[in-house]
Amino acid sequence: MYVAKTKKSCHLAVLSVMVLALMHASLVQCQLAGKLVQNPCSGKDKCHTCIQTQSCAWCMQPNFEGRSRCFQHTSPDVCPEQFVWNPDTSEQILINKNLTLAGESQAYGSAGGFGGGGAAGGGGQYISGGSSYHQSSSSSSSSSSASSYGSQYSGWSASSGEIVQIKPQSVNLKLRINQVHNLKVSYTQAEGYPVDLYYLMDLSKSMEDDKEKLSALGDKLSETMKSITSNFRLGFGSFVDKVLMPYVSTIPKKLEHPCDNCKAPYGYRNHMPLNNNTESFSNEVKDAAVSGNLDAPEGGFDAIMQAIACRQQVGWREQARRLLVFSTDAGFHYAGDGKLGGVIAPNDGECHLDLQGMYTHSVIQDYPSISQINQKVKENAINIIFAVTNSQYTVYEKLAAHVQGSSAAILSNDSSNVVDLVQKEYNKISSSVEMKDNATGDVKITYFSSCLTNGPEIQTSKCDNLTVGKQVSFTAQIQVLKCPEDPRDWNQVIQIYPVGINESMVIKLEMLCSCPCEHPGSIGYEEHSPHCNNYGTYMCGICDCGEHHFGNTCECSVSDMNSTINNDASCRADNTTNVDCSGRGNCVCGFCECFKRPNPEEVITGKFCECENFSCERNKNQLCSGPDHGTCDCGRCVCKPGWTGSSCACQASNDTCIPPGGGELCSGHGTCECGVCKCTANDQGRYSGRHCEKCPTCSGRCQELKDCVQCQMYHTGVLKNVDDCARNCTAFTPVGVEKVTIDEHKDEQMCTFFDEDDCKFMFKYSEQGELVVHAQEEKECPPKVFMLGIVLGVIAAIVLVGLAILLLWKLLTTIHDRREFARFEKESMNAKWNAGENPIYKQATSTFKNPMYAGK
Ligand SMILES: *[C@@H]1O[C@H](CO)[C@@H](O)[C@H](O)[C@H]1NC(C)=O
Ligand SMILES: *[C@@H]1O[C@H](CO)[C@@H](O)[C@H](O)[C@H]1NC(C)=O
Ligand SMILES: *[C@@H]1O[C@H](CO)[C@@H](O)[C@H](O)[C@H]1NC(C)=O
Ligand SMILES: *[C@@H]1O[C@H](CO)[C@@H](O)[C@H](O)[C@H]1NC(C)=O
Ligand SMILES: *[C@@H]1O[C@H](CO)[C@@H](O)[C@H](O)[C@H]1NC(C)=O
Ligand SMILES: *[C@@H]1O[C@H](CO)[C@@H](O)[C@H](O)[C@H]1NC(C)=O
Ligand SMILES: *[C@@H]1O[C@H](CO)[C@@H](O)[C@H](O)[C@H]1NC(C)=O
Ligand SMILES: *[C@@H]1O[C@H](CO)[C@@H](O)[C@H](O)[C@H]1NC(C)=O
Ligand SMILES: *[C@@H]1O[C@H](CO)[C@@H](O)[C@H](O)[C@H]1NC(C)=O
Ligand SMILES: *[C@@H]1O[C@H](CO)[C@@H](O)[C@H](O)[C@H]1NC(C)=O
Ligand SMILES: *[C@@H]1O[C@H](CO)[C@@H](O)[C@H](O)[C@H]1NC(C)=O
Repeated sequence: MYVAKTKKSCHLAVLSVMVLALMHASLVQCQLAGKLVQNPCSGKDKCHTCIQTQSCAWCMQPNFEGRSRCFQHTSPDVCPEQFVWNPDTSEQILINKNLTLAGESQAYGSAGGFGGGGAAGGGGQYISGGSSYHQSSSSSSSSSSASSYGSQYSGWSASSGEIVQIKPQSVNLKLRINQVHNLKVSYTQAEGYPVDLYYLMDLSKSMEDDKEKLSALGDKLSETMKSITSNFRLGFGSFVDKVLMPYVSTIPKKLEHPCDNCKAPYGYRNHMPLNNNTESFSNEVKDAAVSGNLDAPEGGFDAIMQAIACRQQVGWREQARRLLVFSTDAGFHYAGDGKLGGVIAPNDGECHLDLQGMYTHSVIQDYPSISQINQKVKENAINIIFAVTNSQYTVYEKLAAHVQGSSAAILSNDSSNVVDLVQKEYNKISSSVEMKDNATGDVKITYFSSCLTNGPEIQTSKCDNLTVGKQVSFTAQIQVLKCPEDPRDWNQVIQIYPVGINESMVIKLEMLCSCPCEHPGSIGYEEHSPHCNNYGTYMCGICDCGEHHFGNTCECSVSDMNSTINNDASCRADNTTNVDCSGRGNCVCGFCECFKRPNPEEVITGKFCECENFSCERNKNQLCSGPDHGTCDCGRCVCKPGWTGSSCACQASNDTCIPPGGGELCSGHGTCECGVCKCTANDQGRYSGRHCEKCPTCSGRCQELKDCVQCQMYHTGVLKNVDDCARNCTAFTPVGVEKVTIDEHKDEQMCTFFDEDDCKFMFKYSEQGELVVHAQEEKECPPKVFMLGIVLGVIAAIVLVGLAILLLWKLLTTIHDRREFARFEKESMNAKWNAGENPIYKQATSTFKNPMYAGK
């Protein structure tokens, strides 16, 4: 690990920043490798914590001084191979029986005993060293339980034993923490796989017609199923409800005959255990009497629980697809409803049937809960088909979502479609396979499969549209997330199984959480070892010193030390970390012994090994730009005189920034950084050039020179006072020219201004060494205009026109008056004056009377 490589030293630098964040916050900047990756192995000082870290290996070489024993196994030559403990994930297939191909199972059906066949089938596949776990346990338990079923069924149970639908069957797996292991699981649907179908029927009064129909269809049902698999068994049970108020009427007369042609109510009854004598099914159904109850929901959950729990009485076979058809037209009671009838004892999930197949604990125990049902269904790999009437479908559909492997379907209200329904649901169930497992939280299993397509595998645990003989493969990705606290949990048995099939792949998983060298009896394990000053236990190459001693060889004693000094704490910069010596040294009696590096040029120093002299900033791959420029001290370059910068790459003197002709640093338009001008920008433009001497878009010195040109050339402007002009304008004397023109090659600047008289004046300047100004001799002024004349003229014109109009008006009215007067004179001479009243005269006042006014 400690190779002189920049990337490795980067890891250490990052670690040290983390460790000493408070003291050396800006200590090391690591941009060299681009990636900031911490070495996960450093700081792991015990073998088991080391191998619980991914890609780390432990070195148990004695005398492995000065280096971390936990190292990345990819680093070469850290530790001699015989001392490395780096357990690897391993897989060992213990039982790998071939899948039963189409047609094979029938042949086995008549072949007889399971035990013998199983041994023969599995025989060739054992891998040496593997135990025969699966074989022995399955064969013994199956034969014992098979015999307890009673002679009538034992033949079937035995014959079906040889069908193999999942492969491999047993695997030994050793897994490192966080390592992902892929395991291939194959599944096929065998032809003629045994099917057990138990018909569980609600026999309340409303189901009477259904019962008749079912009894009529019984033969058809069994024929249809036998066409699917010859190995078919049928059973029948019925239920009503708990015989208690308020579920059923407890009036004595009603108890006997709750309704016309009704029998007494009951909880659940197993009428016909599963058997191959399917002809008797119809009779059993016909003979079962209907009963009556009060409330709408029925006690179906009690019946489901008994039908599943009573494996023996109902006669479920071990190797068979188990279907439970639950047919009803009403809702269901569930856990807690029992309180209405005063039943408070919770359901215990056990079988309680008497010899007649009657449920004995109906009024003693409450209904089971949905999760109890689900649990039982899972344990027993049963597929429930809820065949319910249309009105109840939505309820049971939701229920089916909570019970593994179950489904809901609509039953016509007289059960006439029951055969179709069962066949359809069976096909649905058998044509899909879903993988499940019982792994606990510390182990994660994810499934991938391409199912029947040829495409890439996608994450799924379910494949659809399987037919008999088609084989699908799943890849189970197994990962141990962390070591469980309890060492007993480091070995686990995990089952991977297809839902609804009582076959599984058993994984015996060993989590690689500990090192064998840590256990008594292994090589090198020695209590009170002389390696450890007779105080500690020598294991895995290190000393485990117990409570009273510490140090690499237990050479430090707690009593020697100041009691206030805690060994661990004295090797850590502060309490924000729990890594001793910044992970780059060993804590020895409270002091850090920093690791040595293979390259003697590289040393780790500091009280907490927080410093080193090989991870400073680099320039051109030279630490601190090479030994001539600076040296590396605790992650920071210390520059030699004449050099500056974070990597000592910069010259300290500013000489290179001064223009060749002399003058200001960077022509006054920039700063000198690292021997190079950094030019400034202003609102007119950006200076450029090696010494910031150029600025094509800047206005230059025009504004500055303007006033002096103006006063010296034209004696105008702010400095037109002769004294001011002489005093302020000493830098140059403008040379008068007739016309100012710019010579492109001479780096001349043209300036144009307008003065207060609106006259344009132009001048140019050049700064080749000395400032030379050429100015136009004459200003260009706009021609003068006599404004007053224009104004007076306009006013006079307006007055004259007004007078003329007045005169004209006066003339016209005079003429008019004269004429009128002449006419009047003439008329007055002709007419005699009439002294009467003027006929057109009207008095100024008029009087009106309100007719409605009473006049009070
Ligand atoms: C399993 O199948 C393979 C090839 O299909 C065959 O070579 C092998 O003999 C079979 N093993 C058993 C035990 O039948
Ligand atoms: C039912 O099983 C018995 C053996 O348990 C067998 O003798 C009988 O032939 C089977 N009946 C049918 C119809 O398959
Ligand atoms: C599943 O089969 C095994 C034998 O292969 C048997 O021991 C076990 O009881 C069966 N499980 C169920 C739920 O039938
Ligand atoms: C059966 O359903 C039909 C409609 O789907 C309905 O008219 C009839 O009454 C139902 N019969 C019973 C017995 O519920
Ligand atoms: C299964 O087959 C049906 C009809 O053949 C098709 O519609 C459906 O998409 C298939 N499902 C999958 C998952 O391939
Ligand atoms: C998984 O199931 C198997 C068989 O039932 C059992 O032996 C094992 O302990 C279970 N594993 C876990 C983690 O529960
Ligand atoms: C114990 O502590 C004292 C002062 O606190 C110090 O001078 C002395 O060196 C310490 N001894 C050891 C063994 O660290
Ligand atoms: C660390 O030490 C400081 C004072 O020295 C204390 O306030 C703080 O609680 C400590 N933190 C932890 C995590 O122990
Ligand atoms: C690191 O320090 C050691 C000892 O002080 C010195 O010999 C070595 O040259 C230094 N290395 C560098 C790269 O400065
Ligand atoms: C060089 O110039 C920079 C700014 O441009 C200034 O900060 C620095 O002090 C100068 N160095 C010397 C040696 O004059
Ligand atoms: C001219 O120079 C004097 C002092 O030398 C200064 O006070 C005055 O502001 C200057 N005038 C202009 C217009 O720059």
